[in-house]
Amino acid sequence: MAPDQVGAALRFPQGFRWGAATAAYQIEGAVQEDGRTPSIWDTFARTPGKVFHGHTGDVACDHYHRYRDDVALMAGLGVGTYRFSLAWPRIKPDGSGPVNGRGLDFYDRLVDELLAKGISPMATLYHWDLPQVLEDRGGWTNRDTAYYFADLAAAAVARLGDRVATWTTLNEPWCSAFLGYAAGVHAPGREDPTAAFQAVHHLLLGHGLAVRALRDGGAREVSLTLNLARVRPDDPADPHDLAAVHLIEGLHNRLWLDPVLRGAYPADMLALFRRFGADHVIRPGDDAIIAAPIDFLGVNYYQPARVRAALGVDGGPANPGTEGAEYVAQDLPVTAMDWPVDPSSFYELLMWLSDGYPGTPMMITENGAAYDDVLVGDRVADTDRVGFLDGHLRAVHQALAEGADVRGYLAWSLLDNYEWGYGYGKRFGIVHVDYDTQRRTLKDSARWYAAVIGRNGLD
Ligand code: FCB
Repeated sequence: MAPDQVGAALRFPQGFRWGAATAAYQIEGAVQEDGRTPSIWDTFARTPGKVFHGHTGDVACDHYHRYRDDVALMAGLGVGTYRFSLAWPRIKPDGSGPVNGRGLDFYDRLVDELLAKGISPMATLYHWDLPQVLEDRGGWTNRDTAYYFADLAAAAVARLGDRVATWTTLNEPWCSAFLGYAAGVHAPGREDPTAAFQAVHHLLLGHGLAVRALRDGGAREVSLTLNLARVRPDDPADPHDLAAVHLIEGLHNRLWLDPVLRGAYPADMLALFRRFGADHVIRPGDDAIIAAPIDFLGVNYYQPARVRAALGVDGGPANPGTEGAEYVAQDLPVTAMDWPVDPSSFYELLMWLSDGYPGTPMMITENGAAYDDVLVGDRVADTDRVGFLDGHLRAVHQALAEGADVRGYLAWSLLDNYEWGYGYGKRFGIVHVDYDTQRRTLKDSARWYAAVIGRNGLD
C-alpha cells in the first residue's frame, strides 16, 4: 500500500516496520561473563587517550542482566522490530574455534523474551567487536577473518535461525575499515591506509560468505547495513567540486554498493586499491561471492556532507586517496555531536539509492541524534530530538511517496549507551539511562515515538 497524506497527517504504508536499534558492546556490559573474551573495543577503550575519559563498555547499560526490563520497555512503546547485535567474542571466544554455548544462551533468552512480547528480532552479526585474538592475527587485513566470520554466521543461525527471521551481516563496514584501520579513531586504532583497503575487501568478502552461510542455515531475510552519505558540492556549477563529490561519495557509497549490488568495484575505487598496494587481496571469484543477493539494504543515516575541490588539502585520514577534495562547513543547526541536521539530504540519499540501485528494498536501520539531555525529576524534555526524528521521518515519507521502496524505520537508539570514542558523553537514546543507578526513564521522544508507531504516521 502506498503512503498516504490526509491534510497535514502522514500515514506510512501498511506493514511498515517500526523499531529501535542497539549494538552489543554499546549496551551489554558483562564483558567477562560466561566465557566472553576481550574484543578490539575492550583493548582500544583501555588504551590511554583513545576514548573520552577512558570510558569502557565494562558495564554500559548492564543490558546483559536487564534485558527483560529493556524488552518490556520496548513492548510498552509498541516497538515491532528490535535490531541488536551478537558479540562475536561471546559466541566464539577464540575467534575461530569452538562455539561457546553459554554465549549463545544469552541471545537465546533475549530472542525468546522478544518473541514472547510480540517483537521481531533482527540480529546483526558484526557491530565492530572483533575478538582481540583475531586482531592479533591481523584482524580484517587477514583474509582468514572473512572465513571465520562466515563460521560465526553459521553458528548463530544454527542456534537462533528457527526464531530470528531477519539477519544483517555487517554494520557500517566503512567505519570498521576507515575509522578503525586508516584514521585510528575506532578500534583497532591503526593508521595505515593499505591496511584499511585490505580490510574493505575482507569485510565485503566476509559479508558475501556470511550471506551464503545464513542462507544455508535457513535464514529467511538477509541484509547488509551501510552508512551511506549524501555528499553535495559546494558549488554545483563547478566541475571540480563535482569531481570532489564523486571521489568522497565513492569511498562512502559506491565502494560498498557496487560490489554488493552490481557485482564489481567501480574503476576509480579499484584504482585506490592499487595505489595503496592493496589490490593483491582481491582474488578471482571474490566478486561473485560478494554479490550474493540480499533481501534488503540497511541504511544508516545521520548527517549531510558538503565538499569542494581545493589544492593542497584532502578529505582527512578517514578518506585516504582524496587529495584535492575537502569537506566544508555547512550553515545548519547541529546536534551534540556537531553533526549538521538536514532531513532533505536524507530524502535525497534515499532517492539517489532508489534511482541508482533499483530493485533493492531498503530499511532505515539507524537514524537519530545526540543532544545534551537534562533529566528533571522523571522527565527529559528532548524537543530537539523529537524535531530531528519528525523531520527525518517526513523525509522518509516523501521518498516513499516518490517511489522509494523503504520497508521500515529503526530509531537509534533505544537506550543512551556507549558511544564509541565519545564514551558515555553523548546520549542518543529515546530512553534515558542513569549510569550510576541503571534507572531507565522514557524521554519525551520515546512517548512521541510510541504515538507515531501507534498511528503508523505523523500528525
Ligand atoms: C553509527 C553506529 C552506531 C552509533 C551511531 C551513533 O555509526 O553504527 O553504533 O554509534 O552511529
